[in-house]
Amino acid sequence: MNKVIVTGGAGYIGSHTCLKLIEKGYEPIIIDNLSNTNLENIRGLEIISKKKVFFYNIDCCDKWKLEKIIKQKIGIIGAIHFAAFKSVEESVKFPEKYYRNNIDSLKSLLSVMKTNKLNNIIFSSSCSVYGNPETLPVHEQTLFKKAESPYSETKQLCEKMINKSELFSVSLRYFNPIGSHDSGLIGDRSLNSSSNIVPIICEVASGKRDKLVINGNDYNTNDGSCVRDYIHVEDLADAHIKALKYCIKNKNKSIFNLGIGKGVSVKELVKLFQKTNNKKIKFEYGPRRSGDIAEIYSDTKKSNKILNWSAKKTVKQALISSWKWELQKHKK
Ligand SMILES: NC(=O)c1ccc[n+]([C@@H]2O[C@H](COP(=O)([O-])OP(=O)(O)OC[C@H]3O[C@@H](n4cnc5c(N)ncnc54)[C@H](O)[C@@H]3O)[C@@H](O)[C@H]2O)c1
Repeated sequence: MNKVIVTGGAGYIGSHTCLKLIEKGYEPIIIDNLSNTNLENIRGLEIISKKKVFFYNIDCCDKWKLEKIIKQKIGIIGAIHFAAFKSVEESVKFPEKYYRNNIDSLKSLLSVMKTNKLNNIIFSSSCSVYGNPETLPVHEQTLFKKAESPYSETKQLCEKMINKSELFSVSLRYFNPIGSHDSGLIGDRSLNSSSNIVPIICEVASGKRDKLVINGNDYNTNDGSCVRDYIHVEDLADAHIKALKYCIKNKNKSIFNLGIGKGVSVKELVKLFQKTNNKKIKFEYGPRRSGDIAEIYSDTKKSNKILNWSAKKTVKQALISSWKWELQKHKK
């Protein structure tokens, strides 16, 4: 009785979480339509874990196909729902695409879970649900402010849908996931070029991009650049196992922030990357990006205390593994 449905499990955070699940004796059943990844992450998972992984290439919005898989499997204890599109920039250009995929995939999963009496869902939320917060650090009781992008709005709407459902749930609000597994065999295989800072820094370091454009040098922060809370993806993955156990045991609805609890500015991040990986990063300042807020970092007291979880890895370790992942990708 230890199978876990993992939608989006072939993606970046999903693949790292599947590995942790396997290491802890669970059996992930991956549902992923490969819309933003490829089979290499499944292959990587099998190489690292030395186990065959259940993988189904289907769209989570397709209720009937999802149902067929869930009905076939005995011993499913819950679901972790990663399947969604994640680019803030793209969501501004194509909002419908985001509303449709991110909301319909959850709707379909919730409905299939209900009819099959599966009670426990862990949901991938985001710190962007807080909008532009008035006070920092943000804690889980902070009320949602206006979403800064259609992507963030889908996360707010999904959390509300989960709250209204009859299921037991944990919504995990990730801050800024970075880093990769040390093997370099699983990672972020996004099909389009990233708009996230660390992948961009890595691409400048590897020569794939000419330079980094730091968007905004005049924010009301210590050095004028945006401040974020960067969290290693392996720490995030650990939190999912704890959240699943917590959900099964406590049979309630909960929300947890997942971050380090410390803000790091873009300029500090670039400096740290250069020093740690001994690589020069050419950069220039550009205009602010729409949808970016000046500063956000987490209050992690609740996840520390109730989930007994805290980040173990440093930003420096995450930057070393990010660079390793970039080099590994270029070998292919
Ligand atoms: N990476 C981040 O910065 C970040 C931050 C906060 C929250 N999140 C959330 O965490 C989750 C995972 O993010 P990630 O960084 O691993 O992204 P990712 O794109 O690497 O992973 C998402 C996976 O879901 C799959 N997918 C998308 N729509 C699907 C559908 N309808 N049916 C089946 N599979 C589908 C994609 O192919 C991909 O493998 C997402 O919900 C994302 O919104 C990510």
